[in-house]
Amino acid sequence: MSLIEWSHKYSIGIPSIDEQHKQLIKLINQLNKAMASGESASVVAAILAGLTGYTESHFAYEEQLFEKYGYPQTEEHKKEHQRMIDRIGQFHVEFAQDPGGSISLEIMQFLTYWLTNHIQGSDREYAEYLIKKGVD
Ligand SMILES: [Fe+2]
Ligand SMILES: [Fe+2]
Repeated sequence: MSLIEWSHKYSIGIPSIDEQHKQLIKLINQLNKAMASGESASVVAAILAGLTGYTESHFAYEEQLFEKYGYPQTEEHKKEHQRMIDRIGQFHVEFAQDPGGSISLEIMQFLTYWLTNHIQGSDREYAEYLIKKGVD
């Protein structure tokens, strides 16, 4: 079972970004499935590492669009990204210390909550600006 399903309410109107958000949702679902089905710690850690890498490149992609189009909220948005990266980093550490612990549920709740809120809030805000500026 998927933890989050993509739906049109997550679309921000920029196709390349929507595709990346879909991919993030897919990775979160993969991680959830691996944890729920009791995959080994090394499998879970590998998926978590993949999710971290993808998240970092997605954020870098967005930030490079902000630079290109002079998005006024760049600094605030970057800070939100940094907080997410820091939190995932902490989870790596916590998971390594206690791979079977209750941390799994906390990670999933955090990721789901963060991602959907960020997409529907801050990402939607920059999308409005970038679309006006003619981003494709
Ligand atoms: Fe995003
Ligand atoms: Fe973002």
